[in-house]
Amino acid sequence: MKVGPITITSPVILAPMAAVTDLPFRTVCEEFGVGFTITEFLSAHALAAGDPKTAGKMTASLNGRQFGVQIFGREEAPMQKAAQMAVDIGASLVDINMGCPAKRVVAGECGSALMREPAIAQQLVRAVVAAVPAHIPVTVKHRAGWNPANRNAPEFACAMVEAGAQMITVHGRTRTQGFAGKSDHGIIAEVRAAVPRHIPVVGNGDVVDVEGFMRMRENTGCDAVMIGRGAMGNPWLFARLAALNAGQPDPGPPTLEQRIAVFRRHVALIDQLKNGPRMLNEVRKACAWYARGIEGCNALRISVWAAKTVADAAQLVESFFAECIANGNAEPTELPIEPADGEAA
Ligand SMILES: Cc1cc2nc3c(=O)[nH]c(=O)nc-3n(C[C@H](O)[C@H](O)[C@H](O)COP(=O)(O)O)c2cc1C
Repeated sequence: MKVGPITITSPVILAPMAAVTDLPFRTVCEEFGVGFTITEFLSAHALAAGDPKTAGKMTASLNGRQFGVQIFGREEAPMQKAAQMAVDIGASLVDINMGCPAKRVVAGECGSALMREPAIAQQLVRAVVAAVPAHIPVTVKHRAGWNPANRNAPEFACAMVEAGAQMITVHGRTRTQGFAGKSDHGIIAEVRAAVPRHIPVVGNGDVVDVEGFMRMRENTGCDAVMIGRGAMGNPWLFARLAALNAGQPDPGPPTLEQRIAVFRRHVALIDQLKNGPRMLNEVRKACAWYARGIEGCNALRISVWAAKTVADAAQLVESFFAECIANGNAEPTELPIEPADGEAA
């Protein structure tokens, strides 16, 4: 798939997710063959004001791999500055968030609120396009619309493309839906039909397995699929999709031994790339993810949350998996989707 001058070889993109798609997790997904990753959404205002915490979340992928930076805002100057900062750290594209339903974001008329103001959204896209070099595509991620009465995704997407967006991602729910109901493949198909053929359209929402990926592609004609919650603790999905797309045999779900090996890799990356008091929380999150769906995982989650050090938390997971392997516990066949609260972007 081509996004302007960029080539994305596997049509599978890791969804930007606040407090989830940090560099360790993006790296794990890249190592399993995801086609492209994007940072979580970052406030343009905070970046332009020099906020170190926000700037610290704007991280380049390791080993020169391609990546995108997602920004949000509604003022041209900070959006331009933030986009230039993304280019400076080597981003291959700048994505603008026009889908976030969170109250604090919508209250500032940013995120999905921009779907109600296509003219302003267009100005923002034009401003960001003008601020970055011609070889850096500007892309937009949005929802089906504001509410069921205003499902304007096809017109909105065309307006963004007219303003210079070079890829459109659609999460097929409205803002007022939050995460309720299902991502509507019909509206994604309408966007694909409306937008000029050379602009890739990425379908998003509820894809958690190979079958869901195929359904999304067949039902919508989308050029790539973006996966969020289904990837948490399940980077194997990307390996399976990469094999499918390359016409190779399905490597199948991971064994318990493979799960614990990737947990260790994730923790090593957290150790290598992060520091400070948040590290323990990051490790706790990873513990919960990789044990998801295995018998006894809820008790593990609770004990890991009570652990006082990274080493203690990791040891609890090691013991849990060692016991599961020794007892021949069944591997999870179906991973429950992570719940998302209404505040998730
Ligand atoms: C915890 C969480 C954080 C999210 N943060 C972002 C974000 O920073 N930017 C964004 O565009 N979407 C964000 N989203 C929305 C996802 O990118 C995606 O559109 C949504 O989860 C639907 O896809 P899924 O069903 O594959 O998870 C977030 C979702 C979740 C669950």
